[in-house]
Amino acid sequence: MAKAGVAILGIYAADLAFTAPRQPIIGETLIGSQFTLGPGGKGSNQSVAAARAGAKVTFISRLGKDAFGDNALAMYAREGIATRVPQDENASTGAAYIFLEEATGNNAIIVVPGAAGMITTRDVDDAQDVIENSAVFMTQLETPSAVGLHALKIAKAAGVITIFNPAPAAALPDEIYTYCDYATPNESEASMLTGVAVTDLASARKAADGLLAKGVGCALITLGGQGSLLHSKTQSIHIPIFNTGKVIDTTGAGDAFNGGFATAIARGEKPETAAVFGSAVAGISVTRRGTAPSMPRLGEVEALLKGTSHLG
Ligand code: RIB
Repeated sequence: MAKAGVAILGIYAADLAFTAPRQPIIGETLIGSQFTLGPGGKGSNQSVAAARAGAKVTFISRLGKDAFGDNALAMYAREGIATRVPQDENASTGAAYIFLEEATGNNAIIVVPGAAGMITTRDVDDAQDVIENSAVFMTQLETPSAVGLHALKIAKAAGVITIFNPAPAAALPDEIYTYCDYATPNESEASMLTGVAVTDLASARKAADGLLAKGVGCALITLGGQGSLLHSKTQSIHIPIFNTGKVIDTTGAGDAFNGGFATAIARGEKPETAAVFGSAVAGISVTRRGTAPSMPRLGEVEALLKGTSHLG
């Protein structure tokens, strides 16, 4: 059977987003201007981004047997996302506190993975067939790194293209990098993982070299407003952002980028074309509130991409 689609291991979290002029300090109560409750979690957001961008997606995770967990499963059914996601009677579904800065749309997040934080290698083994039959496997660091490593090994052994989005950054066994065709940190994650302070393209190149030296096939570092850098032993390409209008909410922009990138790689696109596609998905997502709800549909992405090669 030909490999197709994208398998994603990660978490679902209910996103509780508070908009305010600034964060409160300890002991202070601050009146905010807006609140939203919606679906989030990096792996889940990436799944929605990829499904809306046209990929056949299977999400691998764990949920609590509670109202948030039921909402998540209803969303996957609506979005056409297949699941290998048991509901755990003894754990709660994850949740995230998201602070949104009124003036900029920038964010700060605390996430509690809940049931998905207790996912085991056995859950991954139960989804082995899905991983092995996908064109692309992608994971992040909201689930335990040992479980991610186990899944990356299964994918690599089956000849599946692997994407590792090391978010949020954490100390990692060096072995993990050798199972990554692509590593996609943002600038602060790249800094933490390599010890190179990433502030611009030149420092991003240095950090990317550090990731290649650890065994990554190709580094794709996202740099916020400065776009992204695709860097391998054979090429180093800057991809600018798409200016799509007023930035309302940058939460989940990295997930949009990764979901779009994985979709295009699974379709057989070249990495630079896939990175431009991911950049377009992210460019649209930041003009809307929320994480999963802000992900664009394929038609919108194609309209934005029409007539542009968009390589810096
Ligand atoms: O990347 C954004 C996501 O990070 C949010 O949806 C939040 O749930 C955290 O997982």
